[in-house]
Amino acid sequence: MPAIPPNVRGAIITGWGTALPPKVVTNHDLEQTIDTSHDWIVDRTGIHERRVGGSTVGLSVESGRMALEMSGVDPLAIDALVLATTTPDRTVPASSPAVQTELGLKCGAYDVNAACSGFVYALVQAHGMIAMGAKKVLVIGTDTLARITDWSDRNTAILFADGSAAVVLEAVEGPGQLLGWDLDADGTAEKFLYADVGGYIQMDGKEVFRRAVRIMVDSATKSMNHAGVTADDVSLVVPHQANIRIIQASMDRLGLPIERAVTVLHRTGNTSSASIPLALADALDNGRVAKGDLLLLVGFGAGMTAASAILRWGGTTADGADATVLA
Ligand code: COA
Repeated sequence: MPAIPPNVRGAIITGWGTALPPKVVTNHDLEQTIDTSHDWIVDRTGIHERRVGGSTVGLSVESGRMALEMSGVDPLAIDALVLATTTPDRTVPASSPAVQTELGLKCGAYDVNAACSGFVYALVQAHGMIAMGAKKVLVIGTDTLARITDWSDRNTAILFADGSAAVVLEAVEGPGQLLGWDLDADGTAEKFLYADVGGYIQMDGKEVFRRAVRIMVDSATKSMNHAGVTADDVSLVVPHQANIRIIQASMDRLGLPIERAVTVLHRTGNTSSASIPLALADALDNGRVAKGDLLLLVGFGAGMTAASAILRWGGTTADGADATVLA
């Protein structure tokens, strides 16, 4: 993918929101039903507990509303809604039109399915729409993987969960936050992670692990090259929250200390399309992002897909909205 051309109208994130279902399922809860242990799960994945429940539409409305409120944007001013999800509530239609209606938006609304890379795919698309004239786009990442997880299968039940997070993206004059991006896919690896219609997630965990580290690092490197930056310039990595060992190995290969990665998986598990924006929101809420910081968003997922984006935090819209910093 070539680098972003000069003079393209950019965008900044002016609000964000999150939604997690109230029901907590701990590793100790799983010990009651499958042959596993809290210590094994923590040691092999880093996950302590996860949230389970809710619908894709319901969670999206919750996180989307929070992001709109934070940005102060009138719902009627949103030009497009992009919902990244691999678990829509129905096969037909997409979940996004129901979210659009419940949030009081009057705009195009569609789902993007790139599995756990979906939020970054959607974020890049939203930037494309803003370059083509849209002024405000709501981007949501939501998954309800509990519904397609076989809770008697210890291979997958320890990993997957439900959640949602959203951002409001607003146009700026001149370049915005996005400095470089990369979207990848390799259909030959589909067999390692999939769910048939009406079926449960099937996974070759070892193979997914092996490929995940490679494709995350490859994608991140391409984005950094397009942005003209190096790993040393990156203030914070916001990785897909699949497994702490995948994050650790990827950080090692990028030559970055683990302290520079945002992790929420200990309390969320793997929430697929919601995982990167949940981690981003956590970093923003906890004051880990300052104006001028360089963020690397990077993920991988079923497909297999990979995606990454380099964002320089900051910026101001023509009507005076800032990239919010809570610090
Ligand atoms: N609880 C307890 N023991 C388990 C277990 C579980 N849930 N699952 C496997 N084991 C056992 C195995 O039987 C094996 O025992 P043995 O050594 O006596 O044969 C041992 O633990 C190691 O199993 P293995 O499959 O090699 O574990 P692993 O280190 O590869 O970890 C995953 C398994 C699934 C955690 C890991 O492969 C992984 O995270 N892969 C990536 C998956 C992923 O991220 N998917 C989503 C992508 S978006």
